[in-house]
Amino acid sequence: GAPRPRLTFLGTGYLGATYAICFAELGYEVIGFDVDEAKIAKLAGGEVPFHEPGLNELLRKNLASRRLRFSTSYEEVAEFGDVHFVCVGTPQRANGMGADLCYVEAAVSELAPHLTRKALIVGKSTVPVGTAEWVEELVEKHAPAGLGVEVAWAPEFLQEGFAVEDVLRPNRIVFGAKSEWATGMLYAAHDGIFDLAVTEDREVPVVVTDFATAELVKVAANAFLATKISFINAMAEVCEAAGADVTQLSRAIGYDPRIGNRFLQAGLGFGGGCLPKDIRAFQARAQELGAGEALRFLHEVDLINQRRRQRVVQLAAELLGRKQGPAGPDLSKARIAVLGATFKPNSDDIRDAPSLAVAGMLARAGADVHVYDPQGMENARRALSDLTYETSMDDAVRGADLVCVLTEWADFRNADPVALGEIVGARRVIDGRNCLDPALWTSAGWQYRGMGRPRVEA
Ligand code: UDX
Repeated sequence: GAPRPRLTFLGTGYLGATYAICFAELGYEVIGFDVDEAKIAKLAGGEVPFHEPGLNELLRKNLASRRLRFSTSYEEVAEFGDVHFVCVGTPQRANGMGADLCYVEAAVSELAPHLTRKALIVGKSTVPVGTAEWVEELVEKHAPAGLGVEVAWAPEFLQEGFAVEDVLRPNRIVFGAKSEWATGMLYAAHDGIFDLAVTEDREVPVVVTDFATAELVKVAANAFLATKISFINAMAEVCEAAGADVTQLSRAIGYDPRIGNRFLQAGLGFGGGCLPKDIRAFQARAQELGAGEALRFLHEVDLINQRRRQRVVQLAAELLGRKQGPAGPDLSKARIAVLGATFKPNSDDIRDAPSLAVAGMLARAGADVHVYDPQGMENARRALSDLTYETSMDDAVRGADLVCVLTEWADFRNADPVALGEIVGARRVIDGRNCLDPALWTSAGWQYRGMGRPRVEA
């Protein structure tokens, strides 16, 4: 077929690095760009600066094949690429609501002047609806006149821990484009994905649409996922009041294919770099558009999610027999083991992690908190330095008056309650992710509390 376009990925954070590496693996010639020289040096040296299963191997393989390079030069990237993917961060603004687009603006307005031929600039970062039009204006302003540089949007849906698989084998692809040329380039830039699907006898559905819809797809999908999680956590609250078991309720409603059993796990709620920030930015943008009322429920979704964290502190006070003070319970002198600091297992990401937030709340209530996480220790220590960090589960748990399992790592799920029972100070456990078997733990002499489950005594 036609020669494949050369691709660049601007911003080698989680999203850009993963895409750059995976698209090299698909056979494209790729440059990953970042303004951060340390990050680029690491990647060029064959080391992924974050934890993502399978990615290091692919990085090394594709550096060796010379299909993949890294650069800090806009000039080099502009000279090289036919399609430039914008993968920079869109952090939450300091005021807590809207998304900050300064990195998108910098990437586009600094790349564009260096372009020397027609190229396609494709947005991938999660942005407020309307951003693609604004990027088009930026390109018009900063690209040399007469090249006909175009803009398109192609949102991504990758989940941390499954990022390689999600990029190589997406369950759908969305293109927002204005011209046939742009659509054609987008198809060419994703050919590798379609070819792989053909060899595996799969189909990848493609939705080709306008800018606004493509931008909205991403935030709508995340809003739906967040809502599903908060729905089941709201049911957990009702179960707690009624003495029912939300894990069984979830299983029972999940068998209805219209509902589905995925993302219906009650527990500590959602965290991470996407869902919490995206639902806030989505509300802020809808407000600006005069459609704020339509998303008012997302405020409730957020509140339900926050309440789950408070619930763990409340359960801790209950289990430890502590009184509620005016500023919450007093947990002073209680030694509490917190197992899990990342926002989910198989990740080292602690951004908006419910587990780490709860660890901080317990410490603020006076508890002596000892944290252990298989991958997140370094990041956690940087974010919350005044907790005690241990180097193993046993060290965290030793002598504890209470054990809180707050991220469902396999190590914790499979922990032996008999062995742990020997080294704790008292056998009390809060299962913040409903990932333990209450019968197993109670038969080993533990008082068990789950989220939205009936209390079980030893
Ligand atoms: C999410 C979306 O899934 C992904 O499509 C999007 O591109 C980025 O945001 P990610 O942030 O990697 O991905 O995490 P995800 O696996 O979705 O989990 C988000 C949070 O929800 C985690 O804190 C997890 O513990 C929690 N969660 C998930 C639940 O509490 N219950 C569930 O049933 C599922």
